[in-house]
Amino acid sequence: MSVQPAAVRLSGLRYRWPRAREDCLAVDALTIAAGERVFLRGPSGSGKTTLLSLVGGVVLAQAGTMEVAGRSLGALSAGARDRFRADHVGFVFQLFNLLPWLSGRDNILLACRFSPQRRARVAAAGSTPAAEAARLAARLDLPADLLDRPAAQLSVGQQQRVAAARALIGRPGLVVADEPTSALDADRQQAFIDLLLEECAAAGAALLFVSHDQRLAVHFDRVLDLAALNRAGGAGEGAR
Ligand SMILES: Nc1ncnc2c1ncn2[C@@H]1O[C@H](COP(=O)(O)OP(=O)(O)O)[C@@H](O)[C@H]1O
Ligand SMILES: [Mg+2]
Repeated sequence: MSVQPAAVRLSGLRYRWPRAREDCLAVDALTIAAGERVFLRGPSGSGKTTLLSLVGGVVLAQAGTMEVAGRSLGALSAGARDRFRADHVGFVFQLFNLLPWLSGRDNILLACRFSPQRRARVAAAGSTPAAEAARLAARLDLPADLLDRPAAQLSVGQQQRVAAARALIGRPGLVVADEPTSALDADRQQAFIDLLLEECAAAGAALLFVSHDQRLAVHFDRVLDLAALNRAGGAGEGAR
């Protein structure tokens, strides 16, 4: 079996938001192994979401290197970065970012529509995007009739599970979740994290899970504290 590249490998990374007076992030080195489950904590404003934007290639660092699945994001054009992200990184955003007028099912399928590689991986597993969306929805306790409703008509907890299915479909090598449980009560937080961990394990995906809630850390292979990792002074006093 070939050795898999690290899910994330960054080195000498420095990032400053446009018009900010100080760097937001300065991280010497960070590696997340393939399949590793990492809990990233840090107070509000410490740069957690910014780091995820860099991991996703949404923004590019001014210095240093950022590799995802062995690919250096700085070497890719903006369009190639968008395609790479669609193929290899599943995002669960803080506010889910579902398209409200699309059904839950179509929100999940969108991830495949934008990614030839996700479609290919679904096909290689002997399935179809529609069947895989249904499997993940069932796995996440989303009844089929709910999936036909526009996302705007789903409860917060249901939207969150749709967002998780969208991130997971087509088995990206890395799933990134930005405080996805902040709107849930403790029982549902637990259930959601269990599902995310199980589905990532089944897919062999690494999971980078961001939260300021330290109690959730016990479920992960490793805990990273961004305040300790980040040498920049500008986090928490940026442009907004
Ligand atoms: N789009 C943006 N433009 C300018 N500054 C930003 C932007 N997003 C975040 N920042 C700044 O970067 C710093 C870190 O923010 P963020 O990464 O959102 O922290 P966290 O997710 O840990 O709460 C803050 O000072 C914030 O004001
Ligand atoms: Mg944040």
